[in-house]
Amino acid sequence: MANNEELFKKIISHAKEYGFVFPSSEIYDGMSAVYDYGQYGVELKNNIRECWWKAMVQYHENIVGLDAAIFMHPTVWKASGHVDAFNDPMIDNKDSKKRYRADVLVEDYLAKLEEKVEKEVDKAAGRFGEAFNEEQYRNTSPKVLEYNGKIKDIKARFYTALERGDLADVKALIEELGIVCPLSGSRNWTEVRQFNLMFSTQLGSVSGEANSVYLRPETAQGIFVNFLNVQKSGRMKIPFGIAQTGKAFRNEIVARQFIFRMREFEQMEMQFFVRPGEEMKWYEYWKSERMRWHHSLGIPAEKYRFHDHEKLAHYANAAADIEFEFAIGFKELEGIHSRTDFDLGNHQQYSGKKLQYFDPELNESYVPYVVETSIGLDRTFLAILSHAYTEERLEDGSERVVMRIPPMLAPIKAAVLPLVKKDGLPEKAREIMDSLMFDYLCQYDEKDAIGRRYRRQDAIGTPYCITVDHQTLTDNTVTIRERDSMKQDRISIEEIADIISKRLKTNYKPLPAM
Ligand code: GAP
Repeated sequence: MANNEELFKKIISHAKEYGFVFPSSEIYDGMSAVYDYGQYGVELKNNIRECWWKAMVQYHENIVGLDAAIFMHPTVWKASGHVDAFNDPMIDNKDSKKRYRADVLVEDYLAKLEEKVEKEVDKAAGRFGEAFNEEQYRNTSPKVLEYNGKIKDIKARFYTALERGDLADVKALIEELGIVCPLSGSRNWTEVRQFNLMFSTQLGSVSGEANSVYLRPETAQGIFVNFLNVQKSGRMKIPFGIAQTGKAFRNEIVARQFIFRMREFEQMEMQFFVRPGEEMKWYEYWKSERMRWHHSLGIPAEKYRFHDHEKLAHYANAAADIEFEFAIGFKELEGIHSRTDFDLGNHQQYSGKKLQYFDPELNESYVPYVVETSIGLDRTFLAILSHAYTEERLEDGSERVVMRIPPMLAPIKAAVLPLVKKDGLPEKAREIMDSLMFDYLCQYDEKDAIGRRYRRQDAIGTPYCITVDHQTLTDNTVTIRERDSMKQDRISIEEIADIISKRLKTNYKPLPAM
């Protein structure tokens, strides 16, 4: 298998060649960090969204959905803190003229130190063999202790500087660590400056401050401003949640890495409203529940890990990411945040409208606390794609690329293939196609040799190929070929739907709420 960077490039080119993801406006040379989803991409995306929606809304009696508008009153973003605090610290290299996120430069430096620690541990494990005591080694090796000490010191200084808004010290740290521009190799840096990530546009025909609106940078605020509408009209009792999926927009300055970081992307968010003081227990519940959902997709558990935040966003009193091991390394896939009463409290203050809940059990009113789960749909798509892409050498020496997409998420569930284009086989295959198409998205294909047709379906991740041959005409049986094992079985036509449906079932069931 290729190294990670090569693998990532292969995934991107496969995604384009097989109709998953295209660069936006490609005939005009594309746009940086904007992508379009092709015929198979849109199916995979819809399936992921539906899988999440069912897990959140259908499987939890106390969670309901919402679809709020992208445009919101401009004061929403003042109240949410995004106008004042939704910034990234940026630094430019004067030689390459390239702009970087200052925090990413420092975090990359820290990641390199962490890698050095792991290398030391691996080397020692090789040297000591069976007798190796990893914990003892980590606590006593002078080199490991030196690296860890350095990591601790850098983090302490860096996060304090960010929290205080001391951008001069962030620059000083970058210089002291000797961080160079990856392009020019020089240390010729500008000052660090804050850039707001929100896009603004004009409402109506008159331009001016009063008509400026923002494209939402997160879907969450649509949920907060509708909190009472939903609670009252749905007679919801705390604890309860509101879920929403939809587009969000951020003017990412450093927008690289394919669909990992885009300027227009989709979020799947759920805000869970709880009694003040009970937020930490719900935060733990949702952390574990969201991880269980990821594991249920059929991707190995070791591909995921938690990362607890040391520097908290302006609205949170606890936060963790679920990270996934993409081809570009472990990166954030989902955030779970305990947002306190920050959002509802601020909207209450800025709007002058009470956003309180009367708790009949406590006989008192309060502004609820919120635990949020927020996952990027495009990042989940990339996680699925990264895991699925597999190059295989077969027994006959040939090679195939197979997308091992979890069957319930696969764009096409089955391909129906007449062995030859004559003798009544296409007609029989069409009958099967007609019987499946109302329940499953299937594809009919009669072009090229059967082997090439199998490869085409492997490349888009179709779990089953159903081949109609001459025997089908006499005994109503077909061969069904399973994508991953390539095993072929002879079954009767009546069994097809049942076999497909069994593979598409989710094994996710939420644990009972506390
Ligand atoms: N409401 C909280 C919130 O928006 P976030 O950590 O900024 O939190 C949540 O975003 C998720 O949205 C991330 O974990 C990631 O999956 C996705 N996301 C954020 N920015 C993104 C971008 N520029 N491109 C693609 N996905 C993004």
